[in-house]
Order: sequence, then structure tokens, then C-alpha cells
Amino acid sequence: MKSLKEKIVSREAHVAVVGLGYVGLPLACAFASKGYKVTGIDLSESKVESLKKGESYIIDVKSETLKSFVDDGRFTPTTDFSALSDVDCISICVPTPLAKTGEPDVSYMINARDYILPHLRKGTLFVLESTTYPGSTKELMIKPLQKAGFELGKDVFVAFSPERVDPGNPKYNTLNTPKVVGGATPECTELAVALYSSIIPMIVPVSSCEAAEMAKLLENTFRSINIGLVNEIAIMCKYLGIDVWEVIKAASSKPFGFMPFYPGPGIGGHCIPIDPLYLSWKLRTLHYKARFIELADDINSAMPDYVVGLIGEALNGHEKSIKGSKILLLGMAYKKDIDDLRESPSLLVYDRLRQKGADLYYHDPFIKSFRYNDEVITGVGNEDIGKYDCVVVLTNHSCFDYEAIAKSAKLIVDTRNAMKDIADRSNIVTL
Ligand SMILES: NC(=O)c1ccc[n+]([C@@H]2O[C@H](COP(=O)([O-])OP(=O)(O)OC[C@H]3O[C@@H](n4cnc5c(N)ncnc54)[C@H](O)[C@@H]3O)[C@@H](O)[C@H]2O)c1
Repeated sequence: MKSLKEKIVSREAHVAVVGLGYVGLPLACAFASKGYKVTGIDLSESKVESLKKGESYIIDVKSETLKSFVDDGRFTPTTDFSALSDVDCISICVPTPLAKTGEPDVSYMINARDYILPHLRKGTLFVLESTTYPGSTKELMIKPLQKAGFELGKDVFVAFSPERVDPGNPKYNTLNTPKVVGGATPECTELAVALYSSIIPMIVPVSSCEAAEMAKLLENTFRSINIGLVNEIAIMCKYLGIDVWEVIKAASSKPFGFMPFYPGPGIGGHCIPIDPLYLSWKLRTLHYKARFIELADDINSAMPDYVVGLIGEALNGHEKSIKGSKILLLGMAYKKDIDDLRESPSLLVYDRLRQKGADLYYHDPFIKSFRYNDEVITGVGNEDIGKYDCVVVLTNHSCFDYEAIAKSAKLIVDTRNAMKDIADRSNIVTL
């Protein structure tokens, strides 16, 4: 009988991906595209139903590609965990959000583990990909697996390998982004490296699951802190009467030791606002305060209110108040050219303006509607821009015609410098 490594090398290994969202679906398709037989498991019946029909709900996965994998049996989506009984390698890509109290909500990882355990067969490679605090793989996966009778390095091989996918990124995707892998034992690392190196050209092995968990948190904490810094620089520039965008452009001319980050209405998505808080929470349990993380979070979280302040001031300059003004928000997604609304700062700007009595509308070709308390809010078209008292650019989608918007809008608050090429700036206020 072939060993697991031989099965991986020959691509005869049967791979399962648990959690088919922004991370898991592209990963499952990446394995399928390299010749593996892949089972995809998700709890959501509606997602699995659309996948079975070859219909993708993830912007980076084309329906025609997905359909070809489903039709030729390379990718089988299901809600049934018993499909794991003949699987050799499992990658877990379930959500890791924050609870309402701001603490890590690890329940998705625990549930996934508990659904998998009864069907886990001996000799399986088990990889956690969800972003989480250092020590999670050991605490939440390895110890319970051992308790259930699996001997580490013999009956089960466990590794952590963080996902780095950047949804909507036209250059980097699952298949061409280097992947960090840290196993619980050298043999676990070796098997996980074998699996991922069979689909991704560059693998970066580290000595432990904890080093791999921490590497991912360093990456996203670095982003959160630098965005926090540039958001505060934007506020400072406003006080000083300096154009922050000009300053960033000038500083970016330094060919070494500087990397530009850009201010905006706040941070969103399932990673940057959340992941660093997994780390600071873990450190709190060890009686250490992660000051940089908390400060960046304070600054970034306050940006939606800062933007609402700018909108109020801009309207004031037109002898209007937020209350009763007709305001159009352009872009609800948390970043450009994607359909992800999770943790989007636009939602907070929307909420604050509604609370203040604005006559509020939004336009976003990627977000048809969203839920606000008990209401379903549906987007409007972008024609007739001139009827609004103020147009607020919250997301700089590439498809917006900024020139046309600038021509017809009475007043624009641009939080992304999307209007940078517009010559007549008399109606434009920037961050
Ligand atoms: N979205 C990103 O850009 C990104 C990038 C890198 C890393 N990550 C990390 O990857 C992980 C997944 O994020 P995502 O954006 O793909 O989330 P997502 O919400 O898009 O997808 C997660 C999927 O898991 C399913 N699920 C939940 N519990 C399950 C269970 N017990 N069994 C099977 N399926 C289950 C959900 O139905 C959902 O379809 C998170 O830890 C996140 O931090 C996300």
C-alpha cells in the first residue's frame, strides 16, 4: 500500500476542504486544477446547492471553471461529513470572527473539528488554515484529537498553514502566493509541505504550528498598524492644512525604507480588523498589553465617525445640516472591486448618518442590498447624481465614472482620493 507521501506526490491523495467561503472555495478549486480529487464540505445547504450546479458565489472563482471540476467529478461539494471517511488530507477554512464582546469566537473551528472527528480515518493529514491566535492548533485541534485516541505523527499528522488569499487581487491568488507551513512534528511539516508544494511553487516551512500562526498575525498586524498610522497622519494633516495624499506620494519616492499605506473611512473585511485582536486577546490572557494593536484599532475604528464629521462640515459649508440632506454613499464593500461587506466601515458611516437624520441612499454595483437592523436596504442607480446634496466616496471601485460624478455632483466627500485626477476641485473635499 502506498504511503500518504507517495499518494500526495502522485496526486492520488483524496483532499477535503472544510468551509467553502472566500478562502476554502478557491483552495478546493486550486487542488482540483492540479489533478486532485477534492471533496468540499460546507454547512450551508444553499452554498453547496449552488456549487453542485457549478455556480460560484466567490468573485475569484469563475463559474465555468467550477462547473468543469464538478462535471468531471474532480470536485464534489457536500454538507455531509461522512464523505471524509476515505479522505487523506483535510484543510479547514472556517470563519474566525470576534464575539460581540470583542473576544475570539473559536466556535466555528471547534464545531468543524467535532463534525470531522467521527469520520477521521487513521493516517490523515489535518491542516488548519483559519487565522487564529498562537497555540490554537495545539489547544483546539491536537489535544482533542489525542484525547479521541489519535496518536500525533502516527494516526494523524497536524499542521497549521495560514491562508493569505487577497480576494479580488488580479495578480496574486491561491496558486501563486507563497505559503507558510508549520507542523506539530517534523514529519507533519514534511507531509503538509509535500501537499501544498504540489500545487503552489513556493512553500515556507517553519518549525512549529505556533510560528506559522504568529507569522500570519504579524502580516495582518503590520497592515493594521500601518493603516492606523496613516489614518492618524491624515487627521494631523487636516489640522495642519496639508494635503495628506500629496505627502504620501512624496514620501513614496524614497526607494528604500518606506512603503505607502493609504488613509480611508476605516478598515473592513474578515482579516485586518479582526486578526490582530486575536493576538492582543491571547496576550491579555498572559497579562501583557499589546499596545500597538490596541492603539491602531482605536484609530481605525474611529475613522467612520471622523468621516461623518467631515461630511457634516462639508454640508455646513453649503449651509446645510446632515439632518434632512439627501446623501448618496458610493461603495459599501470594504475595499474596491469586491462584493464583501463584512466589517465594512461603510456600514458604520451609513448607521451614523441615518441616526443623524440624513435622507440616505447608496450605490454599489457589487452590493445589491444589505440588512440594516430589521430593514433590507437596496442600492440605487448612479444616474442623476446632481439631485444629492452630498456624494460620499467610501469605496473606490474601478467601475465608477469619477469624471462624470465630479461634473454633476453638488458636493463630494472623497475618502479614498478617487477624484485625484479631477482638475476642478471646487466641489471636492478629501480626507
Ligand atoms: N477572506 C479573506 O480574505 C481571508 C484571507 C486570508 C485568511 N482568511 C481566514 O480564512 C478563514 C475563513 O475565512 P473566509 O473569508 O473564507 O470565511 P467565509 O465566511 O467566506 O467562509 C467560511 C465558510 O465556512 C462555512 N462553515 C462554517 N462553519 C463550518 C463548519 N463547522 N463546517 C463546515 N463549514 C463551515 C461557512 O458556511 C462558510 O461558507 C478565516 O479564519 C479568515 O480569517 C480570510
